[in-house]
Amino acid sequence: MREKFIIAIDGPSGAGKSTASKLLSKRLGYIYVDTGALYRAIAWKVKENNIDSKDEAQLEDMCNKTDIKIRAVDSEQRVYVDGKDVNSYIRTPEIGMMSSKVSSVHCVRKRLLELQRQFGKEGGAVIEGRDIGTVVFPDAEVKFFLKASDEERGRRRYIELKGKGHNVSLEDTTEDIKKRDYNDSKRDIAPLCIAEDAIVIDSTGLDAEGVVKKMLNEISKKKAKAKTPHLNPLPIGERK
Ligand code: DC
Repeated sequence: MREKFIIAIDGPSGAGKSTASKLLSKRLGYIYVDTGALYRAIAWKVKENNIDSKDEAQLEDMCNKTDIKIRAVDSEQRVYVDGKDVNSYIRTPEIGMMSSKVSSVHCVRKRLLELQRQFGKEGGAVIEGRDIGTVVFPDAEVKFFLKASDEERGRRRYIELKGKGHNVSLEDTTEDIKKRDYNDSKRDIAPLCIAEDAIVIDSTGLDAEGVVKKMLNEISKKKAKAKTPHLNPLPIGERK
């Protein structure tokens, strides 16, 4: 077990992963990694370069030639594609849907898998996504799976998009996240699913503070367990 944990946070869109992960990383003094932003960055480049996302050879060539970096700025994550800060372009509903599509392609996942493992190799990281606890860091010390009702997820995403000035409706936004969840959980490679050893938290009706409180409680339990020495290693009959 690493001294500084890897905390995997998976779950569908709008379950509250980003807000909770950012807050949790601050409380723990850990780095925060939003892996969805990496898939969004690839989708943005696909769009910018008019790449046919169904043409795997073209996509693979693009992935191999793309430099993706992340940097923490004021506890926010910024993503750079070939040196360009793309943060303000990747949070649109269109890029969200495209990222869900490109994320089902093998070469994209392979390219981003290596990158994600680099970010977490030292431990001390809160990493959010869809397959962190199942594929990227199956040995993460603590795994959470965040869920919330469809209505609540739609409402949260709608408020977020409206706040950023997007002209969207609640109905379309809710439909969009349901479609994305369907794609993300039905794909062949690394689908969205609950890791066997994940702790499931339903964030419906909870604010980020409430979610993080539950998470910190679970993390403390894991830490205490890791510190407790095996008190009596002798078989029962030989104990004094
Ligand atoms: O978390 P997000 O909404 O920004 O993610 C955008 C898309 O990226 C999501 O619909 C599926 C994909 N994704 C993934 O396949 N695996 C991850 N670890 C993170 C995101």
